[in-house]
Amino acid sequence: VPYVGRLNSALRPGHTVAIKGEVNKNANSFAINLKSSDSEDIALHLNPRMKTEVFVRNSYLHDSWGEEEKEVANFPFSPGMYFELIIFCDAHQFKVAINGVHTLEYKHRFKQLEKINLLEVTGDVQLLDVRSW
Ligand code: GAL
Repeated sequence: VPYVGRLNSALRPGHTVAIKGEVNKNANSFAINLKSSDSEDIALHLNPRMKTEVFVRNSYLHDSWGEEEKEVANFPFSPGMYFELIIFCDAHQFKVAINGVHTLEYKHRFKQLEKINLLEVTGDVQLLDVRSW
């Protein structure tokens, strides 16, 4: 069952979402989504694929997935790993840090940030804590 929770307020530049979790031991894949409650749109889909060690990022807009972004210097997750993932939203992009290491940037595709008010976590991960400010 996926976790879906409301952010403390809709997204805006300056907003930070901090997630603590633990990757399942035999994990195949999990996803962290920032999405809207009034459509199916996903502004940011963070999707680590553990077996292939590919960290997919994408958006789901107007009923379809866009082009995947996959580049990272090092795949930051391992099976069973505890992590603290920080998503910082600025005017132009999301910046994602994992365990204190800046890992990627994702340029905004969905520009109506004020419509993004939900955090969804799915797949092979235990969610331990969510905070946003
Ligand atoms: C698809 C997958 C979706 C999502 C998407 C991202 O292949 O089924 O869950 O991860 O890729 O591009």
